[in-house]
Amino acid sequence: MKLGVCTGGGDCPGLNAAIRAVTEHGIGTYGFEFVGIQDSFNGLLETIPKVMPVNLDVVSDILARGGTILGTENRNNPFKDPKRKDAAIAKIHQSIKNLGLEGLIVIGGEGTQSMAATLVESGINIIGIPKTIDNDLPGSDYTIGFATAVDIVAEALTRLKSTAESHDRIMVLEVMGRDSGYIALYGGLAGGAHGILIPEIPFQLDILCQKIKVRQTMGRNHSLIVVAEGARSEGGEQIFRKDAVHGHNLGGIAYEVAELLSQKTNMETRVTVLGHVQRGGAPNASDRILATRLGVKAVNLFADKNFGRCVVYKGGLIKDHPYRDYLKGRRSPVSLESDVLNAAESIGICLGR
Ligand code: F6P
Repeated sequence: MKLGVCTGGGDCPGLNAAIRAVTEHGIGTYGFEFVGIQDSFNGLLETIPKVMPVNLDVVSDILARGGTILGTENRNNPFKDPKRKDAAIAKIHQSIKNLGLEGLIVIGGEGTQSMAATLVESGINIIGIPKTIDNDLPGSDYTIGFATAVDIVAEALTRLKSTAESHDRIMVLEVMGRDSGYIALYGGLAGGAHGILIPEIPFQLDILCQKIKVRQTMGRNHSLIVVAEGARSEGGEQIFRKDAVHGHNLGGIAYEVAELLSQKTNMETRVTVLGHVQRGGAPNASDRILATRLGVKAVNLFADKNFGRCVVYKGGLIKDHPYRDYLKGRRSPVSLESDVLNAAESIGICLGR
């Protein structure tokens, strides 16, 4: 079988580990051939498809490499515009035919997988692999990149703690995650945060202030607060950084929270926006293992000609589920019944409620 492999959406640690697993297993076990599609589906939309070789030599040294050797893209969704959609699908079919591919392995987040779901419906053989530091894909307990992002947040908090203690300050750390609070919750828990604000729980700042004041009465004159970029106060709005050319992204809520905390507690505050540091660099061991397990399963599904499925990590096992679950572009938030939320509150972390 000759297959295309591509990565789509924002990059994250572990993409190359997944490409490596797919290639090693596909070539080594089944004698498959691979073509790397560059820059997500864009590579197939170019007049001359933009591709690169993917073979054992190419993947020999990429397990620990951050980013993606295939390039990626998270701005251009040609299927959104009904006028472009049919032409884009036809062009992708044509490119796949010209390249002699029997199908695609698509490593991507929600945006990429909902595009892939449309392509599956149009008749292309696809197996999906879930990745995103945000961990917001339905069906998979964990996605590639999430565990590394959590490590980075925890490390940042550990570093912020010593400087916060030295200066008696409140440190407000803004982390990524779009509309989901996984990175904030898990990173905050692992890094010893005293308050964690997530999009799933619109926060009341006064409750957070009370927590900080109680800490002060105990002689603890510093506090570490993690704010997810998509968090908002009760009755308030999410905050976006506007970019006239490239659209706008969530970001900036930490400044608002820090300002209000300093007014209400009379303490000094400082803001750190962790940004793309959370997405860059080497994957941790968990992400390397997850990417390898998911990559191997994806190749096995192709070998079984069991197309139109996405591999997932569920309850400690690698499973697969139908692509149509991604068609509506659903995201999965932190469940309010999550035992992780419960654990955080049980040890006194304030969630602003
Ligand atoms: O979806 C991953 C993510 O890193 C989000 O957490 C973040 O909001 C967004 O991508 C930023 O994307 P970019 O800056 O690459 O457009």
